[in-house]
Amino acid sequence: MRHFLKESDLSREEVAAVFATAAALKAGRGRHTPPALARQSWGLLFFKKSTRTRVSFQVGVHELGGQPVMLNADDMQLSRGETADDTARVLSRYLHGMVIRCHDHALLETFARAGTMPVVNALSDFLHPCQLLTDMFTLAERWAPGRPEAYAESLRGRKVAFLGDTACNMGNSYVLAGALLGVEVALAGPKGYAPGPEIQELLRREKLAPTWTFTEDAEAAVRGADMVTTDVWVSMGMEAEKERRLREMAPYQVNARLMSLAKPGALFMHCLPAHPGEEVAQEVLDSPASIIFDQAENRLHVQKAILAHLAASR
Ligand code: CP
Ligand code: NVA
Repeated sequence: MRHFLKESDLSREEVAAVFATAAALKAGRGRHTPPALARQSWGLLFFKKSTRTRVSFQVGVHELGGQPVMLNADDMQLSRGETADDTARVLSRYLHGMVIRCHDHALLETFARAGTMPVVNALSDFLHPCQLLTDMFTLAERWAPGRPEAYAESLRGRKVAFLGDTACNMGNSYVLAGALLGVEVALAGPKGYAPGPEIQELLRREKLAPTWTFTEDAEAAVRGADMVTTDVWVSMGMEAEKERRLREMAPYQVNARLMSLAKPGALFMHCLPAHPGEEVAQEVLDSPASIIFDQAENRLHVQKAILAHLAASR
């Protein structure tokens, strides 16, 4: 049984294959889509808010010929104390797979262990792997235009800079995806917001050589970068720290001055939702360097490719 809980649940070769499938699904959308999930029902279980992930998975399962079953955690017996183990066992009798957005990453691992269906991480406090595969695919479209077979290779040796709360799920996922795909990841944020021991331990376990660095110097991180990215300063669940975070992260806002230090032609990305005036200036979101809406669209194509890949490797 294959799961996609973290980027490294796919090998480099599988990522390259997922990219090729995603490119084909994107090119053929609305004309022909292989019914990879025909006669299947997939549960989409959300413990946290979502716009892109919820809609793109629902549409994606439908377009692959399957039926999405939307599950709100608050409506389930899980929220009244039923165990995750029992829930996973029961739902495995109805469903062919599950996509889960949750707080504690361990919940995903419980579903994967106790259930008998593929589980996909739609964001946990620890990682956001569907977003990272999408980010890498979106960059590769620019760096190897029209050559999906070269997408994965086009990423190797590139430098990306991530500014702000680099200890969050997106920071961790950049660290992991960078190591998997040979991308240099320069992180910059205030002291205390560097990726923690958990992601470093995961790299060791997966035998992946680290490709990341952390500095408190935003300019140093951005210099020579092929792409600059950021994420909200207050991730879901961190609302109590809002005031302190906004104050401490202010020097890490991605603005036109900072973008001018990156490589000529450098791109800007943001997983969204954005908070203009906080982690990113409106001028950057609106600039020609910004590819945020291609990035958002590609969630659909890449996730369809991931689902098709998991369904084929059962
Ligand atoms: N980027 C992302 O995961 O967006 P949502 O929270 O809207 O799903
Ligand atoms: N780090 C953000 C990502 C949102 C897609 C959060 O967890 O809220």
